[in-house]
Amino acid sequence: MKRNERLSAKDRRLLKETLKELNRQGRLQEEKLAKQHGSTSVYQHSINVAYLSLWLAGRLPLRTDRGALVRGALLHDYFLYDWHKKDDGHRWHGFRHGKTAARNAKRDYRLNRLEEYIIARHMFPLTVLPPKSKEGWMVCLADKWCAAEETVRPFFRIFRKRGNPHK
Ligand SMILES: [Fe+2]
Ligand SMILES: [Fe+2]
Repeated sequence: MKRNERLSAKDRRLLKETLKELNRQGRLQEEKLAKQHGSTSVYQHSINVAYLSLWLAGRLPLRTDRGALVRGALLHDYFLYDWHKKDDGHRWHGFRHGKTAARNAKRDYRLNRLEEYIIARHMFPLTVLPPKSKEGWMVCLADKWCAAEETVRPFFRIFRKRGNPHK
């Protein structure tokens, strides 16, 4: 089963439509130019986080604002620079980029408060202030999970190749 097929048809459509809308309105495409973890771009990482956030929301017995959840997840790393490049402006990236992403997203999109806080506080517990909403907690959790998966996945690929001499 493909990963995306684990979402309901409604959630799949929401993810697709929101991504299309954000791509049309702002600079989301620029996230394709910078890597986030391993070989995963910031753009793909954001889609992964949105997917997992929706998956989580579908399994928890909580009412969630799915629209804000997906927009917040897709824009949570909208900092628009390559943090691997040495630059004074990228210092303390881990601590600062939530706020930078929220500021950029507010400039390029019409955000509500819920979406703004999802983005600004997704780096908890590295940053002191925790998420303010259940949607914020979902994105925060999904982000950690995706970051770990994207970081270790390339190593598993190497092991798999080494284990099979015909690959
Ligand atoms: Fe982040
Ligand atoms: Fe992230």
